[in-house]
Amino acid sequence: MEEIGRRDFFGLLAKGLGGLISTLLAVPLGGYLLSPVLRKAGEGGWVSLGRADKFAPGRPVRVEYSYEREDGWMKTKVSRYAFILRRPDGLVAFSPVCTHLGCSVGWNEEQKNFHCPCHGGVYDPEGKVLAGPPPKPLTQFDTKVEEGKLFIRVA
Ligand code: FES
Repeated sequence: MEEIGRRDFFGLLAKGLGGLISTLLAVPLGGYLLSPVLRKAGEGGWVSLGRADKFAPGRPVRVEYSYEREDGWMKTKVSRYAFILRRPDGLVAFSPVCTHLGCSVGWNEEQKNFHCPCHGGVYDPEGKVLAGPPPKPLTQFDTKVEEGKLFIRVA
């Protein structure tokens, strides 16, 4: 077995410690740099639409809301709206995005329907398709009421 000299020993020790310190620093730094990329883009959350008791039964009410969306390292303020309908069994929140090609629907108070201006899609107040090309009902948000406030889950 070959003996190593004191100078070689300290050289190896310095290299070993340098490698260990580099590894210890690289792991959290790599995690910090990669975490936004590995996180699902636009993971949503609950957004408050205000007091739940302000929604009277009868017709959907358009409500504006905004939230901050994270995509990688970018944060963007997103502004949207939803239609809230009070039914006997609780509040329902509809996305205004037409399920045909994504135009925004509007509420027609005279006909008591949602209308899509792009290709004539018509939905009833429950979001079900009545006419036109939309293949499925309006998307409903998950909802919850906490401390008297209505929340919808955004994507
Ligand atoms: S996008 Fe609404 S009917 Fe085509």
